[in-house]
Amino acid sequence: MSSARKLFVTTALPYANGNFHIGHIMEYIQADIWVRTQRLLGNAVNFVGADDTHGAPIMIAAEKAGKTPQQFVADIAAGRKQYLDGFHIEFDNWHSTDAPENHQLAQDIYRDLKANGLIETRTIEQFFDPEKNMFLPDRFIKGECPKCHAKDQYGDNCEVCGAVYAPTDLINPYSALSGAKPLLKSSEHFFFKLSDPRCVAFLEDWTQNGRLQPEVANKVREWFTVRTNPDGSTSEGLGDWDISRDAPYFGIEIPDAPGKYFYVWLDAPIGYLASLKNLLDKRGEDYDAYMADPQLEQYHFIGKDIVTFHTLFWPATLKFSGRKVPDSVFVHGFLTVNNGEKMSKSRGTGLDPLKYLGLSMNAEWLRYYLATKLSSRNEDIDFNADDFMARVNSDLIGKYINIASRAAGFIAKRFGGALGEVSADGDALLDHLRTVTPSIIELLAEREYGKALRETMLLADRVNTYVDQNKPWELAKQDGMEGRLQDVCTTCIEAFRLLTILLKPVLPALAAQVEAFLKVQPFTFADATTMLGKGHVIGEYKHLMQRVDAKQLEALFEPPVQAESAQSATENVAPGGEELAPTITIDDFTKIDLRIALIVNCEAVEGSTKLLRLTLDVGEGKTRNVFSGIASAYQPADLIGKHTVMVANLAPRKMKFGVSEGMVLAASHGDEKANPGIYVLNPWPGATPGMRVR
Ligand code: 2FM
Ligand code: ZN
Repeated sequence: MSSARKLFVTTALPYANGNFHIGHIMEYIQADIWVRTQRLLGNAVNFVGADDTHGAPIMIAAEKAGKTPQQFVADIAAGRKQYLDGFHIEFDNWHSTDAPENHQLAQDIYRDLKANGLIETRTIEQFFDPEKNMFLPDRFIKGECPKCHAKDQYGDNCEVCGAVYAPTDLINPYSALSGAKPLLKSSEHFFFKLSDPRCVAFLEDWTQNGRLQPEVANKVREWFTVRTNPDGSTSEGLGDWDISRDAPYFGIEIPDAPGKYFYVWLDAPIGYLASLKNLLDKRGEDYDAYMADPQLEQYHFIGKDIVTFHTLFWPATLKFSGRKVPDSVFVHGFLTVNNGEKMSKSRGTGLDPLKYLGLSMNAEWLRYYLATKLSSRNEDIDFNADDFMARVNSDLIGKYINIASRAAGFIAKRFGGALGEVSADGDALLDHLRTVTPSIIELLAEREYGKALRETMLLADRVNTYVDQNKPWELAKQDGMEGRLQDVCTTCIEAFRLLTILLKPVLPALAAQVEAFLKVQPFTFADATTMLGKGHVIGEYKHLMQRVDAKQLEALFEPPVQAESAQSATENVAPGGEELAPTITIDDFTKIDLRIALIVNCEAVEGSTKLLRLTLDVGEGKTRNVFSGIASAYQPADLIGKHTVMVANLAPRKMKFGVSEGMVLAASHGDEKANPGIYVLNPWPGATPGMRVR
């Protein structure tokens, strides 16, 4: 029987409403190093990812972008490869939670949970947007904080005073989607009965029996005794989990429940299985048989913000639908950049991964640097530009690459590339390296990358001391020292080979260059116990890695506005506080008919603090009625008689206060709270009503 382990590994599935930011890339690098380590140990790994496509925010973003949700997420998916390839992140498959496999698996899992008596329905009251005709997620309800009376706070908590409350506690609530006053409406929801004693018993064991990182297990333990309710009060024990959302919703339909969809967090982790199934199907392997193998180990790399989902909901979903439960989840902290703000999901500022690549910065510098900071603990790490340059230039290049560059030239020039004997002192050095190697591999397998790299650099220090003591450049000048020169340089090349094997999970592309230079098969960790041997002919040494130039770091962190001209077209620098929408064709653009409009009349709308009613002349021989959310910025009288630009072929929309027959164009910052202000477009003098804008 083979002793190779069989591993199924995932990273968290990113929401398909934005490009990757450095926080995503860090998690993928962390997982990729572990997967490569396992493969070098001879274990069999399937490593998969996917886009997390469902939910109200993506549905709304798609609508805003004028796309179907399917098209919207497909466009985001098309941008993934350049990041993954660029940073040598080798997923075996990248899929989508909207793929057929996921619809099927989610519905099967739900049916199994139901058959197990763990699904129940309850009628709950929620805010409903009468204009959009939809129930509003908490994040899309705004109003005045009930505690500090700050305006425009979200439905779940106040960003000014930190109060936590239910959306129904807000004073003067309004829909962030339409501005309308939401109504309370009841609806039937489906719940996963996590409070069932079977679930509680299982989860207490699963979370507390040593499989989780200690700090994670401790945090999770608190949730078994007390939980925080939406209104900020607390209750005892695990609460049931609301797994349904009402139409309209971009998601997976709940079987036998028309108009009901799975809440995105129910089907998102099932996407791990869907991506694996898709991979195995493509390879002609049997998914059910694969999952049924008792030897299979399943691990998920995740960030600390999604621990609840992965340590409670997800294992319980799997367990009580009769499926394999994860062996563990590996939780990492957040990444900050230059001691700045955390790389949250919504604010991926600071270090733009594509800008990094676009500046021809070596992806393996970043892999190496992040690895020096990573441990098996759930702790935050900081990317510091000075530290980055020091680690890469002094350690990676100054210590490791330097070994090859000091020895390889002599082997090529003086000995036709052939390695020689290793004498006693070289043997002692190499013996030490081989003795320490297994413990470094062990550290990598334990995700203690920082420690592993520190140990590796200590070995590199020893090798450099050996070089300094033997001075090959002086041996090369001395008569009769040919043999010793070949011996010393052979020792260096062999040491360099051993160090490269240890660094291979972190620096896979560099290791491939070294394999080519040494003329050897791709390394595995087993190669650390062998030697190339006398007479082995190596290739010509070409410099393996450039140093980091301080100018590159300056350019990387240059504020976007000044950097704009130097950037490639594919980069997103969030001008005006939001990322550019995906590229469209001229045909897409000409679908939008923009016309000059004269504002014939403008008046306040009774019952709305946001809207103004505009009467517009677009040169059609009649006027149009248009509602515009600009009341905070303009007095009606200031607009009468002015020209502006409107979307003239927008389908009429029925709103609470009447039908809106078009849309007036206005500019605003992506972060309206930090940068308030709305600016209606005004053409240069001379433009007359009805003229097309193109
Ligand atoms: O927090 C997030 O970014 C989620 N999209 C993670 C989902 S992980 C898994 F459950 F799919
Ligand atoms: Zn408040």
